Amino acid sequence: MDDRALQFEYGALPENIARLIAGRRCEKDGVGRSGAEIFYLDDYVLKAVKYRIENEDAVRVMRWLEGRLPVPEVICFERRGDIQYLLMSRVPGRMTCDTYYTERPEKLTALLAEALNMLWSVDTAGCPRVMDADALLAEAGYRVENRLVDTDGAEASTFGKGGFAGPEALLKWLEDNRPDFEPVFSHGDLCLPNILAQEDRVSGFVDLGGAGIGDRWRDAALCRRSLRHNLDGTYGGTVRPDFDADELFVELGIRPDRDKLRWYTLLDELF
Ligand SMILES: Nc1ncnc2c1ncn2[C@@H]1O[C@H](COP(=O)(O)OP(=O)(O)OP(=O)(O)O)[C@@H](O)[C@H]1O
Ligand SMILES: [Mg+2]
Repeated sequence: MDDRALQFEYGALPENIARLIAGRRCEKDGVGRSGAEIFYLDDYVLKAVKYRIENEDAVRVMRWLEGRLPVPEVICFERRGDIQYLLMSRVPGRMTCDTYYTERPEKLTALLAEALNMLWSVDTAGCPRVMDADALLAEAGYRVENRLVDTDGAEASTFGKGGFAGPEALLKWLEDNRPDFEPVFSHGDLCLPNILAQEDRVSGFVDLGGAGIGDRWRDAALCRRSLRHNLDGTYGGTVRPDFDADELFVELGIRPDRDKLRWYTLLDELF
């Protein structure tokens, strides 16, 4: 590998990681997102991210998922200061937010239903982490208290006129309206960029930092919202004004639980 190609904002690499990627061709991901740095190294991917939460739990879940779901194999996980480095195998395929899929909404919806069914089919016995309402509200509480919530990125209707006065009011409402728990295996951030597909089948899931045993409607809510926004022009690209994201539930053959979808969509506004 050419060292100059691997310019980390976060500083020099931990030795273990540097040794494991030596000699590999390096390509930085051009898609700018939540502060994570992503490098493609042939059939490996390196993710470097600054986290408050220790991500050992998430890595344990990724390891537990091997053989149960198509997820990256963990090659090495290292922490240096408050930066965490995850070296993993590369999942083949392209993101389901790719225009190939957004221009084919029916195919896309079928893929997302396939993704949800794959998650919901995992036998959760022995899963090392639980991400239930208590765990999520505790994390949301920390974020609200420490003013880490970005209200600018929220849906227009969430805060202000006709909505909640602010993150504290939303947190209180969420605590007072906790839904009952329907445990399944939950990805935790089931948006289109985190679901990869190849030859019109789901090829894998990435970005598993919030994964664990969780409520069925948590992934359904975030997946539905992501499907909607990837087709309504929120991110530019394909715009299908007539597309109804509830097609996802038609494809799944289930009746949407509106209250739970709303609760989990609102909870995500605090993350
Ligand atoms: N193991 C992998 N195999 C293939 N592609 C990957 C892998 N890990 C990440 N990617 C690609 O990089 C993109 C960004 O990675 P990821 O989703 O983990 O980060 P993020 O959304 O920026 O991070 P976070 O939400 O954790 O802050 C993914 O959408 C995917 O396209
Ligand atoms: Mg992601």
